[in-house]
Amino acid sequence: MSNRTFTMIKPDAMKNGHAGAILDRIIKEGYRIVALKQTKLSAEKAGEFYAVHSARPFYGELVEFMSSGIIIAAILEKENAVASFRTLIGATDPAKADEGTIRKMYATSLGENAVHGSDSDENAEIEGSFFFSGLEKF
Ligand code: CMP
Repeated sequence: MSNRTFTMIKPDAMKNGHAGAILDRIIKEGYRIVALKQTKLSAEKAGEFYAVHSARPFYGELVEFMSSGIIIAAILEKENAVASFRTLIGATDPAKADEGTIRKMYATSLGENAVHGSDSDENAEIEGSFFFSGLEKF
């Protein structure tokens, strides 16, 4: 089991002014920030990041949304990071997320759900390396 996961604060949460509160919560929950940057995905880069979803009906909407504004990307470290972080962010659909989870508190809708969290150790590594070089991971 790896101790790292990858997250993004998505354009909706950035535009709604929740980035500070979300980062504060992540740090208070005991995650160490390995790497962090503010950036903006082009539609091409967003399409590449979400290529695994390219056959899904919501793919176009997802790519458009994820390239619609600034995001924060980060690699986080904590014991059992992938699973614990998915518990912290809550269900994909904020309407179904538990009270107190980041998506329940800050997400807009199923498509605009405030944060990303990797779903496996393998994807955490792939996604982290999509945004950060080895020299940017501390
Ligand atoms: P995430 O799990 O971070 O990565 C895939 C994203 O696709 C997911 O968050 C949602 O934001 C989005 N998504 C999943 N299902 C739907 C859907 N039915 N309609 C729109 N977007 C969706």
